[in-house]
Amino acid sequence: MSEPSQPHAANPRLDDYWMPFTANRQFKANPRLLESAEGMYYRSVDGRQILDGCAGLWCCNAGHGRREISEAVARQVATLDYAPSFQMGHPLPFALAERLAAIAPPGLNKLFFTNSGSESADTALKIALAYQRAIGQGTRTRLIGRELGYHGVGFGGLSVGGMLGNRRAFSANLLPGVDHLPHTLDIERNAFSRGLPAFGAEQADALERLVALHGAENIAAVMVEPMSGSAGVILPPVGYLQRLREITRRHGILLIFDEVITGFGRVGEAFASQRWGVVPDILTSAKGLTNGAVPMGAVFVHQYIFDAFMQGPDGIELFHGYTYSGHPLACAAALAALDIYQKEELFQRAVALEDYWCAALLGLRDLPHVVDIRCVGLVGAVQLAADPAGAGRRGQRVFEQCFRDGALVRCTGDTLALSPPLIIEREQIDRLLEILAGALRQLA
Ligand SMILES: Cc1ncc(COP(=O)(O)O)c(C=O)c1O
Repeated sequence: MSEPSQPHAANPRLDDYWMPFTANRQFKANPRLLESAEGMYYRSVDGRQILDGCAGLWCCNAGHGRREISEAVARQVATLDYAPSFQMGHPLPFALAERLAAIAPPGLNKLFFTNSGSESADTALKIALAYQRAIGQGTRTRLIGRELGYHGVGFGGLSVGGMLGNRRAFSANLLPGVDHLPHTLDIERNAFSRGLPAFGAEQADALERLVALHGAENIAAVMVEPMSGSAGVILPPVGYLQRLREITRRHGILLIFDEVITGFGRVGEAFASQRWGVVPDILTSAKGLTNGAVPMGAVFVHQYIFDAFMQGPDGIELFHGYTYSGHPLACAAALAALDIYQKEELFQRAVALEDYWCAALLGLRDLPHVVDIRCVGLVGAVQLAADPAGAGRRGQRVFEQCFRDGALVRCTGDTLALSPPLIIEREQIDRLLEILAGALRQLA
């Protein structure tokens, strides 16, 4: 009888893991496996150093292998590995909520903890709907998202999200009563803008038309990313977010910002809300909250919304939550990450490096197939013309070439997105873009 095969962590068989958002067959034929990480670099299983141009997946804003975080998590798992989250507590989520409230945009000082960006999105939508009922506005049930928006993969976030590839297979089962604003990508008018593009604030007026169509009394909330990340770094035109805020406020519609990507310093300041001077009613986060070390999300809720829930009869005010809400290890990681962010002033670093970053990125504009470059803070995108043989092929080839050449970039379709850890140095910016430029030339 043959021995059952033993899983081997260093050299596993690849067949059994169904990888998320991955071309499983192509990947397994030609895997890209990472083994360790330190500072700005990953190390691949074949021993190569890979410069991280993406903070993992927009997560590791303080860079990799931060001892302060791993030690805090190790201490915590040895002290209190888990505590039930319903009708029981432990001190850490309270302490974390206090720390987060202190850096939040004004008023957003009540924190609901989740385990991911998707859960944060669905939590925010549910809070918005339940709030409208709580204040006697129960007819406000419609939700509004935006084309090309990404709010994760739960049915709520998927429904208000606007990325066709994610929605197509589920289209008949998405939430009813959802509309979408137009997206703000306008390469014709805004190509190669530095920072926020000048044209397109009027796209927010589409909300007025939805109000005219449905009646404000039927609309609960609008949810947008202040900057669309996953769809390829689509920046809000100057004045756009302000206009959305003005229209939502005038009609009693809640405004939800999904800051899963923009939160924790990506565009300068703790949140995009602060950088661009618009305060939503609810704000969602995840990713950088723990520097990616332990899964966690946080929903920031305005005091007045929380207060409305606290008016009813005694008892559970919101029938919603997760077994792992406020998990001890996640809280320990988040507290340690916040310490680093503040000690190293990383939220300010994206602004400090913005000029250098944008100038370097815009220096790629004459390379083959480049049709647009967008940049702000420490985030950017290089959009390529699609290969006539198929949309997305060129982006994928550039991504793979960069990985072979020692840099991690991210492609969505034919857009290469860059969001390095906020600890990046100028020479590393140069190196990252040199590798990207080399790949673009080689594949021209
Ligand atoms: C804006 C935004 N919202 C939500 C999510 C979903 O987060 P998660 O993958 O942690 O569920 C993402 C992930 O990239 C995101 O970018």
